[in-house]
Amino acid sequence: MYPLRRNRRLRTSEAIRSLVRETIISPNDFLVPLFVVEGKGVKEEIASMPNYYRYSLDLLEKEVKELWSMGLKSVLLFVKVPDALKDNAGKEALNPEGLMQRAIKTVKNACPDMLVMTDVALDPYSQYGHDGIIENGVVSNDKTNQFLAEMSLSHVKAGANFVAPSDMMDGRILSIREALETEGFTDTGIMSYSAKYASSFYGPFRDALDSAPVDMMDIPKDKKTYQMDYANRFEAIKETEMDIDEGADIVMVKPGLCYLDIVREIKNAVDVPVAVYQVSGEYAMLKAAAEKGWLNHDAVMMEQVTAIKRAGADVIASYFAKDVVKLLS
Ligand code: PBG
Repeated sequence: MYPLRRNRRLRTSEAIRSLVRETIISPNDFLVPLFVVEGKGVKEEIASMPNYYRYSLDLLEKEVKELWSMGLKSVLLFVKVPDALKDNAGKEALNPEGLMQRAIKTVKNACPDMLVMTDVALDPYSQYGHDGIIENGVVSNDKTNQFLAEMSLSHVKAGANFVAPSDMMDGRILSIREALETEGFTDTGIMSYSAKYASSFYGPFRDALDSAPVDMMDIPKDKKTYQMDYANRFEAIKETEMDIDEGADIVMVKPGLCYLDIVREIKNAVDVPVAVYQVSGEYAMLKAAAEKGWLNHDAVMMEQVTAIKRAGADVIASYFAKDVVKLLS
């Protein structure tokens, strides 16, 4: 007796393995998150994100040219706002000469064909570190939506190709889409953070932007009244389908690795591209383990991004994008 099928034949050499490999990673898979700060000549390493930096505009220009030369053609911009410019209503976010608006122009000047996406949420501008406007101790859904539409318009007027609302208010995709259509921005895309969970993996990101919710009386201590409960699955489908109905072009699941079951379900359920955000805590975890010599950094990194793509990601937002592309070439 011999085994009727020997699956190991397809694993006998790298040549045959690569011939039958189902999931291939390329630079086209990645969206590169970038952190921007005021100043000149600034390239600050983020303490909880080794080898990841905040750039001032002059060095942002250098960085995006390098990304472009590596075949990385899409960026997602975040700004670190000085405390003095933060308030409850996010007024600075609408400043046509604000850091985000200048960052968009900087990238577009440096690399006109680079796809520029911007994070749309109040938290970096909020004195309370929340994604919306606080009213009577809660994050006001509808006031925030109005604000997000204005913020999106401001980014698009500065040259953004896509806006990426990451706030999880109800109905914000509709508000933003309506504002864009009304102003004639019919080609502007919306990448909705549609299934965004209230996750403890966002810690290093909040360090990077100094945007964590404050610990203050009458202010919610966390984001659980708008970001999703990580125990939930059906809710992710509902959120995603609603965002598509409201006008989202790309939907997203966030974080990545702990949520690949959700990614696959959404991929099977919808007909728009699905993005996955491999978030700051996922990055930090691998960097820390590799630093200790407990994990092989490059091997685990490739395994992780491949798993994300295999689960159904059409787009991977990842702090590893450059590391991956260097390894590929
Ligand atoms: C802001 C925003 C967050 C992230 C992306 N956009 C933080 C949060 O919701 O608190 C997290 C990204 C990461 O951890 O890498 N709304």
